[in-house]
Amino acid sequence: MSEHHEVLAIRDLTVRYGRAGTPPAVDSVSIDVSRREIVGVVGESGSGKTSIGMVAAGLWPATGGSVTIEGRPISPRMPRRDRALVQMAFQDPNASFDPRQSVRGGLRELRRLHKERTGWISDEDLLRRVGLDSVLLGRLPHQLSGGQAQRIAVARALLLRPKLLIADEPTSALDVSVQAQILDLLRALCRDEDLSILFISHDLAVVRSLCRRVYVMRHGQVVESGSTDEVMAHPRHEYTVKLLAAIPGNFGNQKLDIE
Ligand SMILES: Nc1ncnc2c1ncn2[C@@H]1O[C@H](COP(=O)(O)OP(=O)(O)OP(=O)(O)O)[C@@H](O)[C@H]1O
Ligand SMILES: [Mg+2]
Repeated sequence: MSEHHEVLAIRDLTVRYGRAGTPPAVDSVSIDVSRREIVGVVGESGSGKTSIGMVAAGLWPATGGSVTIEGRPISPRMPRRDRALVQMAFQDPNASFDPRQSVRGGLRELRRLHKERTGWISDEDLLRRVGLDSVLLGRLPHQLSGGQAQRIAVARALLLRPKLLIADEPTSALDVSVQAQILDLLRALCRDEDLSILFISHDLAVVRSLCRRVYVMRHGQVVESGSTDEVMAHPRHEYTVKLLAAIPGNFGNQKLDIE
């Protein structure tokens, strides 16, 4: 089945929060992610990136267009169980944790909600997959560092064996070395766990180090897309040139060595 479908296919997606006539937050956007691919979505604040992620994760309804994961339509109306094949990780993982619940307690809750998907791995092995020691299972969210919290968020997503992870600015709150470790983790998961990732960021430098393909958003529309190298070497849109110029130390679009 997965040979015949993109893992994620977004077609002509429109998202409008206000009444008809107000400009849409997302305006006729189409995005594909294939198996084990990490695809970037970049664009300035308010360009519609998170809105796309929320719809693709089945957390918000599309106003128009369609989203399918492995050929199956995704929407907030479908049972939670059927939406588990796409998971979302956010910039501030603590916002989605219950502050009074230990890491183990949070995993237990997910296991209860998704009995049939979560029996494949123990809590200890799950933490090991994301590079964490199992002593953290007893911690409360406020007892985790930013990098640890982000790894726990990724672990919680992985527990449900998603086909697609939507990572919305997962590293922008972290310092550069911790950020690099999380990016390494995401690369390893694509390779080893048959995961595909839609990686949302305003940071073209991070996207360059992680993504082979990128979509550049502005005012709700995709203004440019293609291989990251190509888009960065020969930006066709003035806005992309501006984003490139915002990368520190990037003079005249020469290659940066960000790893
Ligand atoms: N729930 C909502 N209700 C009303 N308007 C919203 C809602 N969520 C987002 N918007 C508006 O939609 C537009 C796109 O927002 P979105 O969060 O998708 O942008 P973004 O690219 O993720 O920005 P950032 O980089 O700041 O996270 C913005 O104008 C925003 O104010
Ligand atoms: Mg956002």
